[in-house]
Amino acid sequence: MSEELKVANGTKAEKYAELLPQIQAVVSGESDLIANMANVASMLHETFRFWWTGFYRVIDGELVLGPFQGPLACTRIAKGKGVCGTAWQQRQTVIVPDVDAFPGHIACSSLSRSEIVVPVIRQGEIIAVLDIDSQHLATFDSVDRENLEKITSMLTE
Ligand code: SME
Repeated sequence: MSEELKVANGTKAEKYAELLPQIQAVVSGESDLIANMANVASMLHETFRFWWTGFYRVIDGELVLGPFQGPLACTRIAKGKGVCGTAWQQRQTVIVPDVDAFPGHIACSSLSRSEIVVPVIRQGEIIAVLDIDSQHLATFDSVDRENLEKITSMLTE
């Protein structure tokens, strides 16, 4: 396929609908997980112009910063800490409409206002999380959850 991302104008759902097959094409052509995480972070970030889009990988019992797009970020997060560590501990996607109202939110950037964290699951085990931050309140909803869960499952198929 062409190495250029193509995304139409339109609703969020329409953008995801156009993005998903392109992500599938990119990740199915490559077996290296980190390479695929890097391209997924780029494609999501370019499409939606999020504030920060990236992965934390589970390494030796903590989350360690992986491929991302956006500003400098904290490198390690313990299980149960912040939104990322909570999604890992609870084994489910966490949507935070207002990070100031989430106890224990880790503010890597003071400009982040809302956040979604989606686990990456391989054979029942969480091996990473996809973390996306927005500069706006309440950016993320069930449309993001459903599509991002499809995207994270593409990484481990
Ligand atoms: N806000 C996250 C930390 C990671 S940064 O946003 C990139 C959290 O509370 O887990």
